Amino acid sequence: MSSFWSAWIIILTIPVLVGCVLLLTWNLKNHVGVPEDETTGHEVDGISEINNPLPKWWTIMFFATIVWGVFYLAAYPGLGNYKGFLNWTSSNQGIKSLEESRQAVERAREQGLHVQLDQENLKADEVYGPVFQQFAQRDVLDLAYDADALKIGQRLFLQNCALCHGSDARGQRGYPNLTDNDWLYGGTPEKIKETLLYGRKAAMPGWEAALGDQGIREMTAYVLQLSGRAVNQRDAEAGQAKFGMCAACHGADGRGSVAHNLPFGAPNLTNNIWLYGGSVEAIDETLRKGRYGVMPAFKQTLGEDKVHILTAYVYRLSNPDDLR
Ligand code: HEC
Ligand code: HEC
Repeated sequence: MSSFWSAWIIILTIPVLVGCVLLLTWNLKNHVGVPEDETTGHEVDGISEINNPLPKWWTIMFFATIVWGVFYLAAYPGLGNYKGFLNWTSSNQGIKSLEESRQAVERAREQGLHVQLDQENLKADEVYGPVFQQFAQRDVLDLAYDADALKIGQRLFLQNCALCHGSDARGQRGYPNLTDNDWLYGGTPEKIKETLLYGRKAAMPGWEAALGDQGIREMTAYVLQLSGRAVNQRDAEAGQAKFGMCAACHGADGRGSVAHNLPFGAPNLTNNIWLYGGSVEAIDETLRKGRYGVMPAFKQTLGEDKVHILTAYVYRLSNPDDLR
């Protein structure tokens, strides 16, 4: 906060407090000119005004709130840039990366700063850490059919994953459906965990320059034909002739990276399940501009124990039956 606004707040706050005290003490004296509990002589419709003093309980409460106000302003940040003698802050504001956040937590601890968010996180780790650790000892396939683990997994999913994959995990345009057993990177516990811990970056290059308008149209026809759609036969054949340039990632048969044990995350193009849409327009755009989906890494933010439980939750989504 600039020193102008800091001064602005202080100049508005302190006189109001002082004013309250003055007003209250002034009103405790009898300024009316008649003794207390006697009529002031004002009378309307047979109702006369008595010179009553302020009720004692009310006066005491008013003073108490003023004392509390003074204590609060001294203890907590509030008076402009003054930080308060308790050294309290609600969060590490202005932090832009995990690394900065970690440093800020360290610094706060060294300075004895009471950052409420850090304190709450520490307490939560203390209480729930052992619970997560206990689950982390067990096999993913075991947890995937354990009601307690799934309940925790669901909560973690709603907090950390639902904004992209949806609360039912069915995904949306650009964010894969996690319930359909169609995988970009693989659906084994090992592959899912790798995805969650380290994140994924897809790189599907754009082909506008290489293929030209006609080439894009032909390739679009072939991609549609791969998943069984009716298309212009001549276009599809011309597209197929050039599909070699796609095979390194999607496989020569178009069944995708997972089917060919490749690490690229290229989707299966033969199953009519679309990450970016299966209309002619959507595929045209995919082929012209390329696609670059990013799945964030959670190793730093959640830690391995929570990721372990989430792996079980995600595995279970597309494996409803326990086949162990
Ligand atoms: C910021 C959005 C975002 C968040 C948050 C997010 N994801 Fe993702 N996730 C993606 C995108 C985008 C992809 C696809 C990456 C690609 O296009 O290759 C993906 C891919 C995945 C995959 C791989 C799917 C496959 O077919 O191989 C899994 C599993 C996954 N996410 C699980 C999760 C879980 C669990 C969480 C929460 C801990 C999560 N994601 C949080 C965006 C997100
Ligand atoms: C370098 C590897 C690579 C090459 C080469 C490549 N792709 Fe892809 N492709 C990908 C990846 C990775 C994705 C997923 C992009 C994402 O998740 O953001 C993808 C996505 C797609 C999609 C979108 C599928 C959907 O479900 O929405 C289509 C269609 C596609 N590719 C077709 C092609 C065609 C046709 C070619 C050849 C002209 C080609 N790709 C070449 C890696 C590649």
